Amino acid sequence: MNYKKLKRKLKKAVSPYDFQMIKAQYATQYNIRLKEKEDTAGIKKTAELALDILNHVEERIKPGITTNDINTMVEEVTRENNARSAPLDYHGFPKSVCTSVNTVICHGIPDETILKDGDIVNVDVTPVLNGYYADVSKTFFVGTPGKDAQKIVAVARECLRRGVRQAIPGNRIGDIGCAIQRYAEGQGCSVVREYVGHGVGFDFHEPPQVPHFGKKNQGLTLVPGMVFTIEPMINLGKHNLHVLPDHWTVVTDDGSLSAQFEQTILVTDEGFEILTPYD
Ligand code: MF3
Ligand code: CO
Ligand code: CO
Repeated sequence: MNYKKLKRKLKKAVSPYDFQMIKAQYATQYNIRLKEKEDTAGIKKTAELALDILNHVEERIKPGITTNDINTMVEEVTRENNARSAPLDYHGFPKSVCTSVNTVICHGIPDETILKDGDIVNVDVTPVLNGYYADVSKTFFVGTPGKDAQKIVAVARECLRRGVRQAIPGNRIGDIGCAIQRYAEGQGCSVVREYVGHGVGFDFHEPPQVPHFGKKNQGLTLVPGMVFTIEPMINLGKHNLHVLPDHWTVVTDDGSLSAQFEQTILVTDEGFEILTPYD
């Protein structure tokens, strides 16, 4: 079944037979594991917990706390819910959550850094519950934001919204990146290239990769049963970055602020469902 045929099929609801055909094709061709009803039910439970953890942190963010305090909050709520944190020991990552402050793009390691008034901090949580993964993040203001902080957070949030709207069956992966890049660059900001969204659910990072830049009508066709993240990292200045000697912390080269929002999305027959809904 070629793309054109697939695309025509996806104009209407996919029959159970077509779904099994597409599922087999996506598995062999791309290593993508499409999710059945019972899988999405499990992922949804984890996604609800992920959101609960993030809300718990959001209510407690204020000047004076450390990023380690956030790590402790995440560990407590995760443990209370009989889940575990996917980041802990993931390729050697030392903590249970990523906390990325100001010029840190992603993968910030919680430590004794004290959050101060005017900072922005992205908190990225990925619980695992009954074997199912969900991945969600938000960038929070600490105290009262300045103009630059307000701008980059607003742009990153809108990038996520615009990307998500493209996640409908028959559209292609490039449509998502194109919408995000167009908006970000139109606002004078830039899109990080080296880190991308990803399939999620059975594992932390599954195929496909979901770039936050790109061209319309390019890449894989989106089909019902795909579960992936969209998680644009948007810089106020240039997109160039480097990794600190700790091998994890990713920062902007030009020292400009960076913000990120992430959701876990399910592509459905009719469109998409945000499994970690906020806003
Ligand atoms: N949660 C990140 C993502 O959105 C990945 C973090 S990997 C870690 O894909 F090891 F740093 F936790
Ligand atoms: Co992710
Ligand atoms: Co994440």
